[in-house]
Amino acid sequence: MTLETCIGGMAAVGAGHTITFCTVPSEAFAPDPSSAPWWRRGVVYQIYPRSFADGNGDGTGDIAGIRSKLGYLRDLGVDAIWINPWYLSPLDDGGYDVADYRQIEPRYGTTDEAEALITEAHEHGIKVIADVVPNHTSYQHTWFQEALQAPLGDPARDRYHFRPGKGENGSEPPSDWTSVFGGPAWSRVDTMTDVEAAADGVAEWYLHLFAPQQPDLNWENPEVVEEFEAVLRFWLDRGIDGFRVDVAHGLVKDMDYPDLGLATDALLTSASFDGHPFWDRDDIHPIVRRWRNLLDEYDGERMMVAEAWVRPERLPLYLRPDEYHQSFNFDFLEAAWKADDFRTIMEKATTAAAEVGSTPTWVLSNHDVMREATRYGLPDGTDWRSWPATGPANLLDAELGLRRARAAALLLLGLPGSAYLYQGEELGLPEVWDLPVEVLDDPVWEQSGHTLKGRDGCRVPLPWSRSGASYGFGENEGWLPQPQVFGELSASSQTGIGQSTLELFRKALHLRREFGTSDETVELLDAGDDVLAYRRGSGLICVVNFGDEAVELPDHTRVLVHSQSDALAEAPISSSLPPNTAVWLQ
Ligand code: BGC
Repeated sequence: MTLETCIGGMAAVGAGHTITFCTVPSEAFAPDPSSAPWWRRGVVYQIYPRSFADGNGDGTGDIAGIRSKLGYLRDLGVDAIWINPWYLSPLDDGGYDVADYRQIEPRYGTTDEAEALITEAHEHGIKVIADVVPNHTSYQHTWFQEALQAPLGDPARDRYHFRPGKGENGSEPPSDWTSVFGGPAWSRVDTMTDVEAAADGVAEWYLHLFAPQQPDLNWENPEVVEEFEAVLRFWLDRGIDGFRVDVAHGLVKDMDYPDLGLATDALLTSASFDGHPFWDRDDIHPIVRRWRNLLDEYDGERMMVAEAWVRPERLPLYLRPDEYHQSFNFDFLEAAWKADDFRTIMEKATTAAAEVGSTPTWVLSNHDVMREATRYGLPDGTDWRSWPATGPANLLDAELGLRRARAAALLLLGLPGSAYLYQGEELGLPEVWDLPVEVLDDPVWEQSGHTLKGRDGCRVPLPWSRSGASYGFGENEGWLPQPQVFGELSASSQTGIGQSTLELFRKALHLRREFGTSDETVELLDAGDDVLAYRRGSGLICVVNFGDEAVELPDHTRVLVHSQSDALAEAPISSSLPPNTAVWLQ
């Protein structure tokens, strides 16, 4: 199956620049956009339940809070919400450590409330995507607790990866694998239990690619395979529209556990290679195909989106027509504020998705990375993962960061495919980079030996009103402290304020429905080195100025929306675009 790439048309854009390429889905897959399923073009709003809205005043966000904001989400113009794990969990990794996949964490509510949320969201015209975490469970999961108590050789242990250690008395881990969060990927069983699980005095270890509280499941065990299918059915039967699959490039491991000779030191790394012992192994795909068959049995347009950090050339494998519907494209998260970098990413992602009949998914931010309003205000090359260890306050230009973040939002929302927004992105929230170390909760902080700041700074409770104990998050203070600036950035402070970030998002999302979804084509326009410009088949032109100087705009009849209040007058139509600004034209 080949991508149909068309060169040329040679339409003039700006001063003497021409179209360089246009990308359309290959004919084999080209859908009729008017009847294409919602996820091909949907805007999905990510909810981190702990920090979205607190309905009962205990300082932790909950389902009641989410239900109370469905009107806000409908008015914002999103098509779906994706809710980070809401299952029973000790929250050692913010819920990515699940103790029971069929039960809602009591701090968030009940299964009945989850069902009510799904029904009400549907009444608001909003789909609901759940997060499924198949690579590992919590150490509190009944299976792991059973395994810890079970004698060596017992089938209960085979659901996880237990192995005797190396060296004298097994005192060394079974292999040199390191955890994504830092430190060894193996922990001794006797650190978790009083039970002496050792054979002939050789210590036993278990594998955890993330925190020690997150033991990895053994996907070669049929019971594991069956259990997850039952879990998917459990939520599909309750009306869930889709799943975001956590660590979709993990799951299957080389059961010989060969030494790797290198550290897995990035939070989530795509630096795999053929035959890697635990990332992106070929045996993942039969599992995914079974899930896809299962979803296809259900009515409605149910979908799966993969969190797969793999090499670009491997990504299409996950997107084959009988596998995932979509996979996140994370490249924008890592990109410097450079037109060329964004252009290359757009081109690669669009091509890769079109090759297999999927559509790209665009992401600027999520619960694992520094918020973009801060990221874009830092000098290129700043290691934002290491805060607060290096304390870069004086390097930060917050105003510039927000300006660029608003421009990036228009860049993202104008593109074909689906866009994933992270809660608070629509408010232009900054990263809370100076949280006191005593409140840090992310396991990354401890496991990295206090060298990485962790991800708490993008998980601070949302501000809904200008004042109050937690700026409207709940009746009382939230689980992480909010900075004062959250008052003026709150949803109610921005509502109805013409050029606020919230109103910019609302306008863009509504225009996107009108202009952006009737086709899946995008033409990349060559409009100068520091400028990224593209045109949709529907006539929408998006121009983003990444440079330091104003640039000339292409011919147009109307400015639909622009990213700065002071940048362009709506009428008369301006002919130039200031630095770090984006515009949609018709
Ligand atoms: C999630 C992280 C989580 C990790 C382990 C990632 O994909 O996005 O928040 O810590 O998986 O489950």
